[in-house]
Amino acid sequence: MGLLLYQFKLKIQEKILLPVMRKHPKLADLYYFAFSSDFSREHQKVMNGKYLHLQALKNGRPNAFHLRREVHRIEKGLVMRNRRDVFALDFIKDVVKNYHILKSQSNPKEVDADLLNWASSVIQKYFESVDGANPVVKEAKLLFYGDDKPKPKLNGQLTSVPYLREDATVSKVNYESFYKLAMQRRSVRWFQDKEVPHDLINKAMLAATQSPSACNRQPFEFRVFDQKELKDKVGSIPMGIRGIFSNVPTFVVVVGKLSAYLSERDRHVIYIDGGLASMSFMFALETLGLSSFPINWPDIESLEKKMEDLLGLKSDERPMMLIGIGFADPKGGIPYSQKKSPEQLITYN
Ligand SMILES: Cc1cc2nc3c(=O)[nH]c(=O)nc-3n(C[C@H](O)[C@H](O)[C@H](O)COP(=O)(O)O)c2cc1C
Repeated sequence: MGLLLYQFKLKIQEKILLPVMRKHPKLADLYYFAFSSDFSREHQKVMNGKYLHLQALKNGRPNAFHLRREVHRIEKGLVMRNRRDVFALDFIKDVVKNYHILKSQSNPKEVDADLLNWASSVIQKYFESVDGANPVVKEAKLLFYGDDKPKPKLNGQLTSVPYLREDATVSKVNYESFYKLAMQRRSVRWFQDKEVPHDLINKAMLAATQSPSACNRQPFEFRVFDQKELKDKVGSIPMGIRGIFSNVPTFVVVVGKLSAYLSERDRHVIYIDGGLASMSFMFALETLGLSSFPINWPDIESLEKKMEDLLGLKSDERPMMLIGIGFADPKGGIPYSQKKSPEQLITYN
């Protein structure tokens, strides 16, 4: 009966609703208002994220994502070619103020010493690099240092500031070894009954932290589960691993944080940034002798609710995907998974 009803609904959508309502964005809005609640949670989560971000700003305690974005903007300004004498006048005072606020906050999980050091170094570099006679710069500088005494030249003492490409450390990994690693990584679903040491997961994460993210916000968290009962509860929720989850020693739930953004236009970035970090993470696991497989997180309200309750997710947080990890069972089968060719995937100009 359930299947028949589902097929009937699909037919109505295909024959009547979709042909008409797909023709204009407002009709699409109407469709998703009147006939489907499939986007409801996404809308609500995006809205919660925006609200939390705005409330934090209004209460004078901006979140760390905000500071990260601002410091990133200053760094981009510092590396501009033919840079103007002054820039960032519209937000430099804000950066300094937010830096001081977050420095006084005791939440090392969100605002750690490295973030504060980066912010402080970039702000100092900014003051050293722009026209100090500008009144806005003067004010911001006074706000930052607390006095207007002349400051000694930094002379390369700052480490967390823009640098030249030619000064960067170059890895010894060549194309052949990287390609081999890419070939080695396959989705492994059968594992040895062996614990995954936390230090290996932490090491893989250290590599994953180097992944790019929009405005360097890094709007995700990797929630790791390996305590048998709990990890089986987590693994039993996604649909795509129903027959295999108990064999997987460790699950990661990659959680995105929508309070990283002020604007709806950035609503997809959690998935992009989370995906990029997950890929680096899985490659790093391979280099440490571990195998993994990504696990789909379908946007289904009942499952979202289950995961939210189990993980105690906040109002702006969404699971984006899961990753299963373990030491591969050498006798476990691996699907061949034929790949497309570069010619199929690339078009030039
Ligand atoms: C977003 C995403 C979701 C996936 N979901 C599942 C899943 O639910 N269950 C599963 O067994 N594999 C899942 N996979 C693994 C894919 O089946 C696998 O990556 C694909 O077939 C290519 O094989 P390879 O990873 O070995 O190259 C998923 C992969 C991705 C990227």
